[in-house]
Amino acid sequence: MAHLLLLLLFLSLSLLPLLSLSATDTFVYGGCTQLRYSPNSGYESNLNSLLTSLVNSATYTSYNNYTFQASTPQDALYGLYQCRADLSMPDCATCIARAVTQLGALCSDTCGGALQLEGCYVKYDNSTFLGVEDKTVVLKKCGPSVGYEVEAMARRDAVLAAIVGSSGAYRVGGSGKVQGVAQCVGDLSGSECQDCVAEAIGRLKSDCGTADFGDMFLGKCYARYSTHGPPVFSKAHHDKFGGDGEKTFAIIIGLLAGVALLIIFLVFIRKIFQGSGK
Ligand SMILES: *[C@@H]1O[C@H](CO)[C@@H](O)[C@H](O)[C@H]1NC(C)=O
Ligand SMILES: *[C@@H]1O[C@H](CO)[C@@H](O)[C@H](O)[C@H]1NC(C)=O
Repeated sequence: MAHLLLLLLFLSLSLLPLLSLSATDTFVYGGCTQLRYSPNSGYESNLNSLLTSLVNSATYTSYNNYTFQASTPQDALYGLYQCRADLSMPDCATCIARAVTQLGALCSDTCGGALQLEGCYVKYDNSTFLGVEDKTVVLKKCGPSVGYEVEAMARRDAVLAAIVGSSGAYRVGGSGKVQGVAQCVGDLSGSECQDCVAEAIGRLKSDCGTADFGDMFLGKCYARYSTHGPPVFSKAHHDKFGGDGEKTFAIIIGLLAGVALLIIFLVFIRKIFQGSGK
């Protein structure tokens, strides 16, 4: 009996890393080009090599780009991936592997595709986009308005201003319960990144007004904020994959682990008392 419970406990504990990851592989957005390639073409085999390379590369670096120059120009292929800078390498690799799997399902046979998960981004196409700044709005999301909460909005504005004022491809800021984050794709130069982040943050403020959270994903960068404490960015997205189901699962596993611990403790106490009773 105790062995079974111990097994259950270890099983629960070994599942915990999976659960903490569920926030990074939550679906944010995805899209495919209209153009399709013909099955069994050179393009298809290049694409398969590209996707394999991305997954392998993500085990040792958080950003990389690839160019496949083929014998015929139509078969040329470009791709890149990037992980959120705070992810560990194993988490980055897992995130990219999931993104590639989801892209395969979402964009079968299309020349190009892009997918953003909470923790990582993957894009490929047959026309080059590497090193090209792109400020097209890909996804905009604003939470419900917090109304006339002057302090929260002042903090929000200060956090966003600090993010614009800092440098680097990955920028985080916080004040009280207000959190903000911005990241550029690694192929942008410092000044392009600055320009992109400034645009995203300008749009967040103008489009989201007094929303309690805001997400602005542009072609090559994003900026996001939340006024209700860290790390809530994933809370806002129950779009497609993950979400409440995973949370319920996490709670159930947590409860099971708790119950298993309690029973083991009781069995242990009983053994001690039986021992001292002899
Ligand atoms: C991308 O592929 C499509 C379909 O094969 C083709 O029509 C288009 O010209 C290609 N674009 C480039 C830039 O090669
Ligand atoms: C693509 O990757 C190579 C190294 O693998 C790097 O030298 C180059 O700067 C990258 N290009 C872009 C546009 O990021």
